Amino acid sequence: MTNKLILAIETSCDETSAAVIQNGDTILSNIVASQIKSHQRFGGVVPEIASRHHVEQITLIIEEAMKEAEVSYAELDAVAVTEGPGLVGALLIGVNAAKAIAFAHDLPLIAVNHIKGHIFANQLVSRLTFPLLSLVVSGGHTELIYMSGPDSFEIVGETRDDAAGEAYDKIGRVIGVPYPGGKHIDEMAHRGKDTYNFPRAMIQEDNYDFSFSGLKSSFINTVHNARQKGEEMDSNDLAASFQAAVVDVLVDKTIRAAKDQKVKQLILAGGVAANKGLRTSLEEAVRMELPGVELLIPPLSLCGDNAAMIGAAAFVQLEKEEYSDFTLNGQPGLSV
Ligand code: KG4
Ligand code: ZN
Repeated sequence: MTNKLILAIETSCDETSAAVIQNGDTILSNIVASQIKSHQRFGGVVPEIASRHHVEQITLIIEEAMKEAEVSYAELDAVAVTEGPGLVGALLIGVNAAKAIAFAHDLPLIAVNHIKGHIFANQLVSRLTFPLLSLVVSGGHTELIYMSGPDSFEIVGETRDDAAGEAYDKIGRVIGVPYPGGKHIDEMAHRGKDTYNFPRAMIQEDNYDFSFSGLKSSFINTVHNARQKGEEMDSNDLAASFQAAVVDVLVDKTIRAAKDQKVKQLILAGGVAANKGLRTSLEEAVRMELPGVELLIPPLSLCGDNAAMIGAAAFVQLEKEEYSDFTLNGQPGLSV
């Protein structure tokens, strides 16, 4: 039995995180320092502020992760870090910290794709079975990714404009909930009804792509028109109507793609995987329409950005000795 230990670092956006992962599936520690409070008054992530917080936090968070795991640097087998996609200044803090540790302790350096990390968050609670299809929904991404094996990634569908989480956060601003709006809209949606019947963009189209900017505009126009006319609106119904439109399209296209690709497993991943409406609808649809297909959804603690998922994804690369050298850089636009 191997016993490989990876120190993983994640700084792609507004969470500074470090984790120690054993054999790609066991969390020894996973420290996540959120910066949300610092960005909230600006209504979104301010890249410059994000970088500064990462610089202040990174050493402390790494030390905390090592201490909690009760692991010494000499016991580590590799250092893994998010290479991209993300904010370049934020990524660079993690990449440079990882390089320094790899150099100082003579450890292999593993560059991990953040999207792959979100998928591998599921490996920390279950076993991945291939072929699988993964719906990755976050603040920056909405992608359907087919995997025939642990190191094979094919994008079969993606958003043509806004990411699902981005649409949540933008309409959250319009109805005055704090950033990031997704969680708040989700809670309001459960107190309201789908009365506005917003458009389900591209649901009829014969592809696995998504579009959320039309829905966002439709939502904003509805709210502005009502405000101009002085009409009262029920915020919970607005939230429920928006959520129903997002969830309908995500579930419909994901189920269709999973059927067509004949997968064994369906995976939900990314920050929006925390959405209660999406989790419930997808569970129901898989039960009804995909008998025999196993659905994996990470626990809430592993849906948002965290370093544990980076350590889980890195294990596949460790086994193949897929290492980076010290020219490693942050790649803001990195694809899977
Ligand atoms: O994966 P993540 O932490 O960061 C990125 O890689 O983007 O995802 C953050 C996104 C935000 O847009 C946030 O509003 C959304 O996930 N989110 C949710 C919920 N919780 C977080 N969206 C809908 N419902 C939720 N419960
Ligand atoms: Zn993410």
